[in-house]
Amino acid sequence: MTVMTQTEVPGARLWRRGKVRDVYEAGGDRLVIVASDRLSAFDVVLPTPIPDKGRVLTQLSSFWFERLAGIVPNHIVSTKLREFPPVFREVRELAGRAVLVKHCERIDVECVARGYLAGSAWSEYQKLGTVAEERLPRGLLQSEALPEPIFTPATKAVTGHDENISRAQLAALVGSELARELERVTLALYRAAHAYALGRGLILADTKFEFGFSDGRLTLIDEALTPDSSRYWDAARYRAGTTPPSFDKQYVRDFLVKSGWNREPPAPELPADVVEGTTQRYRECYKRIVGEELPA
Ligand SMILES: Nc1ncnc2c1ncn2[C@@H]1O[C@H](COP(=O)(O)OP(=O)(O)OP(=O)(O)O)[C@@H](O)[C@H]1O
Ligand SMILES: [Mg+2]
Repeated sequence: MTVMTQTEVPGARLWRRGKVRDVYEAGGDRLVIVASDRLSAFDVVLPTPIPDKGRVLTQLSSFWFERLAGIVPNHIVSTKLREFPPVFREVRELAGRAVLVKHCERIDVECVARGYLAGSAWSEYQKLGTVAEERLPRGLLQSEALPEPIFTPATKAVTGHDENISRAQLAALVGSELARELERVTLALYRAAHAYALGRGLILADTKFEFGFSDGRLTLIDEALTPDSSRYWDAARYRAGTTPPSFDKQYVRDFLVKSGWNREPPAPELPADVVEGTTQRYRECYKRIVGEELPA
């Protein structure tokens, strides 16, 4: 097990530090993205890291990028530290938690696909009978499978919460041709990942992708199909009408809600059992999907 809260790479220029990832310039049109063990909940980074989380995010994403490369090209140049520029090779702790990628021109939209009625989609449906402003059949239960997977884009807010937008708003934002392409690719990725996960006993309820352009080509970027960007349920424990336990940060969120924290920074430290339980959930998600333990 390893822990890394924040990276230092002597001689490399930091491009940006996100909530979870530290991103470095890597020469030319390349970046090195390092997934730390930071965990953000309610948009606040917690003071307590989750051991192995960054390695799970990186290696699970890489697994999916490779698997889904036939649907859309992705940003990965190399996952092997020995193929990174020299300044990165020196920092051994980066192995397994960093990737060398193409620096893409990001499309500032979260491309969400949903196959089940959960989270903000369930809230909207209960109130209005719609999801992303589109009408759904009456009488669906919480967590129930939708008649068809749907595309529910959101803006990437610079600060604070991302905001759901309609497909019409997306078309106004990026043009109708690109909007259609984002929807088509997002749903194709979701369907393929959902089918694969189901074969491994997991239900992929919903997930979020980010895209950019590299040499004019639409490219999948950021992370893909991790517990941070997706809602996975254990198929064996799934029942419509309930909230199935998930492999995402729900466990931590439940603790934070119970703690009475007002959701303003700073967030409270996590107790050891919550940290351990969270590491275990991330590792379990990796194992279920990839079919083997996260490499040491
Ligand atoms: N290939 C790429 N080219 C350009 N930007 C990328 C690429 N891959 C990921 N990014 C961006 O790098 C950042 C990764 O950091 P992280 O996900 O921790 O940020 P964040 O705090 O979630 O912020 P954001 O709201 O921008 O996602 C994100 O802003 C992501 O959009
Ligand atoms: Mg992000």
